[in-house]
Amino acid sequence: MCGIVGYIGDKQAAPFLLDGMSKLEYRGYDSAGIAVYEKGKIRVEKCVGRLDSLRQKLAGNVPVGTVGIGHTRWATHGRPSDRNAHPHTDSSGDFVVVHNGIIENYLALKEALLEKGHVFLSETDSEVVAHLMEENYNGNFEETVKKVLRMIEGSYSLVFMCAAEPDKLICTKKDNPLVIGLGNGENFIASDIPAIIAKTRRTYIMNDGEIATVTKDAVWVQDINGTPISKKVFEVNWNAEAAEKGGFEHFMLKEIYEQPKAMRDTMTGRVAKDGSHIEFPELNWTSEEFADINKIFIVACGTAYHAGMVGKYYFEQLARVPVEVDIASEFSYRSPIIDSNCLTIIISQSGETSDTLAALREARRLGSRTLAVTNVVGSSIAREADQVVYTYAGPEIAVASTKAYTTQLLLMLMLSIYVGQIKGTLSAGRAKELVAGIKVIPEQIHELLENVDQLKVFATKYGNSEDVFYLGRSLDYAVALEGALKMKEISYIHAEAYAAGELKHGTLALIVEGVPVIVLATQEDVYEKTVSNIQEVKARDAVVIAIAMEGDDRIPKYADHVIFIPRAEKYLTPLLSVLPLQLLAYYAALTRGCDVDKPRNLAKSVTVE
Ligand code: M6R
Repeated sequence: MCGIVGYIGDKQAAPFLLDGMSKLEYRGYDSAGIAVYEKGKIRVEKCVGRLDSLRQKLAGNVPVGTVGIGHTRWATHGRPSDRNAHPHTDSSGDFVVVHNGIIENYLALKEALLEKGHVFLSETDSEVVAHLMEENYNGNFEETVKKVLRMIEGSYSLVFMCAAEPDKLICTKKDNPLVIGLGNGENFIASDIPAIIAKTRRTYIMNDGEIATVTKDAVWVQDINGTPISKKVFEVNWNAEAAEKGGFEHFMLKEIYEQPKAMRDTMTGRVAKDGSHIEFPELNWTSEEFADINKIFIVACGTAYHAGMVGKYYFEQLARVPVEVDIASEFSYRSPIIDSNCLTIIISQSGETSDTLAALREARRLGSRTLAVTNVVGSSIAREADQVVYTYAGPEIAVASTKAYTTQLLLMLMLSIYVGQIKGTLSAGRAKELVAGIKVIPEQIHELLENVDQLKVFATKYGNSEDVFYLGRSLDYAVALEGALKMKEISYIHAEAYAAGELKHGTLALIVEGVPVIVLATQEDVYEKTVSNIQEVKARDAVVIAIAMEGDDRIPKYADHVIFIPRAEKYLTPLLSVLPLQLLAYYAALTRGCDVDKPRNLAKSVTVE
């Protein structure tokens, strides 16, 4: 996730670009840059760090010109650095692009371009686009853009500048947002409405595959075959603050709704094109080195720890490697028995959590191989681990982690399939079945997010309860832990999760009339036992809200209410069953008037021990 902006008009471009980028910093902030058409050529200025670093760099020497583009970066390919900052140029400097997304086939394209003598300055996937423009330019900017779009695969929103045709910007998108702001004698381009709302409320919301030529007086939209597209003006009636949240009331809700896209981004480049297997091109260990792993430690805090709990089931069942899951703050003090055949997987959204970083250092000290699973490129954990795989959830602003968690789950699943393939514990047929399930997850999440009315009703009805309990067995138990954490951290309701089989060993004493008990019942192999647990709490007059799979026609007989999730294979259900739990917590917090995005006493990234 990055922020991109563009300006063309009668006024100076740089002030709009810098201001627009400041409104998009929530989309990424590890480096920033602008390109402005100045005195017959395109001048690019960029640097690592927040936008303020760029402002300082430009102090007294701001590019002068009325056409330009800008970018605030959230690194995916290539760590944050001056060179990896956007905009990117071709070898001549005549073609300049800003990009948000991932060019999946960039390595193959780059190799071909290197052979033709192109010199690359960055490690990014995006730079290939500028070189492709140079390589294919035939005197017609639009036609060249179309030709290049036919070559690239992946997700993108892109804005192009061409020094030979400085009276226009061209922009396009696929699976990433892009809007055009319509002004008088000037037009604006941005990833998102907050960047342009101070200038205009009249917009074109771009759809996938649309290519817009933007001049100062007109916007002309066509598809890749040159068919003109007539766009409807969308009048923005949100205020600036709501615009930053994409029209959602809170960042948490926005991030919950970003999960289908986050899933797709996390899969990108890792699900084989023919759907037969999982690959991790970024991992440098050999198959033999993977095959040698005889124990896995998963270490993390909070939500990331809960993702690790799910990961244990995946690795043990699919890759047949024994796994221990540790809370990071405990790991370093328990003298774990580790050697070089152990793999320690460190999970951290921020990549900066102090306890998790300390655990990583301890694992390295003890001789373990280490693999970071993190969302932040270039973070301390990403830098210090032997290898890293990124979750590509995009920046998570709300303190309560949602999309980071589901992308962590997906990575756990994909990594365990990958190791299972290497170790031969997973047949080709089984891997293919799982991959097929993974591919439909974004659509299933989307489906769930379309039907939230029932959850709002439950949250209003039970949102003022003192306590709520979460029960589940096997993978459902691991998800129950995350559901309870979400509920307590944002609604301040006392929420506890238990392995359902543990009920009678103590917890049952807490079950009294009217207490809400959320029971996850998605795992077929323990279904009957879970139903028995429902009956145990019903016998104590608890109110049972069950989370079950579509088509389960028995569960309504036992539970007071049922929330159905789309039918999925057992390893995929955690990616779906957590959604209603996130939303229940969110709506319960609203019912109680809590500050959802900034819950009391908590910080997004805990960088103290
Ligand atoms: O950035 P990290 O993933 O290392 O953060 C770990 C926890 O602090 C974090 O998951 C925390 O539990 C969340 N606020 C939960 O929503």
